[in-house]
Amino acid sequence: MNDMTRFDREGEARAILARNDRGGYTVPTDRLYPFQWNWDSAFVAMGFALFDPDRAYRELERLAEGQWDDGMIPHIVFHAPSDTYFPGPEVWGTRHRIATSGITQPPVFGMALRHVHEAAVKAGLPGADERTRVLFQAALRSHRWWLRARDPEGLGLVAILHPWESGSDNSPAWDVALARVPATTTTVIRRKDTGHVDASMRPRDEDYQRFIHLVDTYRDCGWDPQRQWASAPFKIADVQMTAILARATADLMHLAETFGTSEERSELADMHQRLTEGLARRWRLELSRFVSLDLISGEDVEAPTQACFMPLVALHLDDAQRGAVTTEIERWRQGMVVGLPTTPAFSPAFEPKRYWRGPVWAVVNWLLADGLRMNGAEDLACQIERGTVQAIERAGFCEYFDPTTGEGLGGDSFSWTAAAYMVLRRRSGAPATGAGAT
Ligand code: DGY
Repeated sequence: MNDMTRFDREGEARAILARNDRGGYTVPTDRLYPFQWNWDSAFVAMGFALFDPDRAYRELERLAEGQWDDGMIPHIVFHAPSDTYFPGPEVWGTRHRIATSGITQPPVFGMALRHVHEAAVKAGLPGADERTRVLFQAALRSHRWWLRARDPEGLGLVAILHPWESGSDNSPAWDVALARVPATTTTVIRRKDTGHVDASMRPRDEDYQRFIHLVDTYRDCGWDPQRQWASAPFKIADVQMTAILARATADLMHLAETFGTSEERSELADMHQRLTEGLARRWRLELSRFVSLDLISGEDVEAPTQACFMPLVALHLDDAQRGAVTTEIERWRQGMVVGLPTTPAFSPAFEPKRYWRGPVWAVVNWLLADGLRMNGAEDLACQIERGTVQAIERAGFCEYFDPTTGEGLGGDSFSWTAAAYMVLRRRSGAPATGAGAT
């Protein structure tokens, strides 16, 4: 790939963000996802930070418009109507001043805020401190919500009550727990996603019946966190979510040195300690990975998925853990054209084209490479970043990629893939060591 082609791709990435702009917020892609999504926007803000920090703040500010009074930042903010998506605001039936969904998504927000703030200061953007100060408070309120609503028993792990909250909707990690959720719904299901993307790349109808059963259940609780907690038929203390929250907490601790009070600094330090200790207890040496906990059955979630490595973004592993994790990640990459698969090929659940059951996602690689680098595995981090950049250069800015062929799948002109391209291309600048495109 010569430098000119790389330059063109960078222009294309920016053009995608411009095209998906709906007025200060970015839709993940046209039609398939026509609203503002929580963690998509956080990644997109980090992409904007590279060339337009003002627009990066706007992305986070528009997301924060959807924040509930109790602190939750919802997974979708329905700023403007669209009939190309199901389930729309009428199914969620929430009562916030702007229409939103009633569940949340990984809190990348705090990570993004630090990133955007640092870029804005470097660029000398006027008013940056004031904007950061306001968003810092929004992030802090959302972290408090997480601990209060989703770790009421003080495990040091936060729970998801819906697979959509994880962002990894149909991951094999949820198979056992989701099978216990009834497939009956009071809402009539009218899927739109399979009109935009081939059904073989999307969750199955049966998954959707259970997803909507959960929405019906929580809507019947009036979206009250305590009632939801008490009646949830799906409740998983998720290592990926906890790791992202812990890492975002560390980023807020950094910002709190400038923008927080001394009480807020010690509150964040306590939060961080609670989450990192909780995560550390989920390590399983015999599996070479971390495992989530099914709070209904009390069982470990042993299905191998990318979530099992996500604690790297928050923890400093010891030598034995680091060696085990890097060897395991290398094993998952073996024989793949693009790594890292979100489910490894040796798993019986592996489906290389079906959404979160195997495909490679650029933002997952972004986080994992960040965690590997933080843990001293610079070479492996660079290889993963470089492989992601090359996959995008070959197949385009797709939603996800088949790890066995490199084919681009799902929606196209995808905002977070464009952001990931710009960020990972810069980070993988160091010469790659080791072989292969993965
Ligand atoms: C979807 O509709 O596919 C989303 O992942 C839910 O947030």
